[in-house]
Amino acid sequence: MGASAKPKILATHRLFDEPRARLAAHFDVDYWEGANRPPRDEVLRRVAGKDALICLLTEKINDELLDAAPGLRIVANVAVGYDNIDVAACTRRKIVATNTPGVLDETTADFAWTLIMSVARRILEGDRLTRSGQWKGWNLDQLCGADIWGKTLGLVGFGRIGRAVARRAGGFGMRVLYHDAVQVPAEVAQAVNATYVPLDQLLAEADFVSLHVPLLPETRHLMAAPQFAKMKPTAFLINTSRGPVVDEAALVEALEKGRIAGAGLDVYEREPEVHPGLLKRDNVILAPHIASASLETRTKMALMAAENVIAVFTGQRPPNALNPEVL
Ligand code: DGY
Repeated sequence: MGASAKPKILATHRLFDEPRARLAAHFDVDYWEGANRPPRDEVLRRVAGKDALICLLTEKINDELLDAAPGLRIVANVAVGYDNIDVAACTRRKIVATNTPGVLDETTADFAWTLIMSVARRILEGDRLTRSGQWKGWNLDQLCGADIWGKTLGLVGFGRIGRAVARRAGGFGMRVLYHDAVQVPAEVAQAVNATYVPLDQLLAEADFVSLHVPLLPETRHLMAAPQFAKMKPTAFLINTSRGPVVDEAALVEALEKGRIAGAGLDVYEREPEVHPGLLKRDNVILAPHIASASLETRTKMALMAAENVIAVFTGQRPPNALNPEVL
């Protein structure tokens, strides 16, 4: 088959070598090679006439975009979260939407722990002090943080990632509480020594409240002023899920008033904007949405998106369809 006869794809990122090689065998791919995210008008212009789209969570896949590309058969998101995609709009047009579940669970759990340990043990403050030339040597009350071992971990959201975070807590001898809209079977919770509790109880008892819910209408601002008021003043909030799950203004107020001890954040309400009240606080760790960013995992995510697209064009079921009813 000549190159011009291959189905046409827009990939809004250059991806990695392995997925590129997989795609090259089947498609004529138009890659966005820019170092930053493409402007919206560029995406709309380039997606016209394409048969498939591989996109990142930074692209809003809505009626406007789908109107610009009436020939699309699949939108493959390189992310597990898909709040950037209007799946119903895709379904109405019989376009399959896919995501990348599973491959990033352990890496994201590692990072939730990175935030827990960094904020509790004040590692960034310590690093700044050591580099500053102002460190005058060991002192008894210097940069005293909070213990992690033996404390209570509260997981809000107990899917694959929440459970992977729970599994790691065993090594720290922690008590693990979880809350989710759906209780998991007892043996699943027992396997990671976790106990289901109502959200209010979790907030009142946890020393670390870590969020692992998808962004849905019912989880938007799940953590707002009333929830911060229920947390212990010594407790920390960790967010590796989606920014709008937290009311950022309420979080800033809770931090300013000492209602909670600190926060480890990877995601923000209006990314890449960060609330100025967070930027100035030493008891907050601010990561730039990198919880899944190991090279291995990001490569697997891109490969998974590529495999979903290949499946559609080779007459197979894409393994990660969000709207399988269109197939
Ligand atoms: C996702 O996959 O949803 C993350 O936010 C990025 O890995």
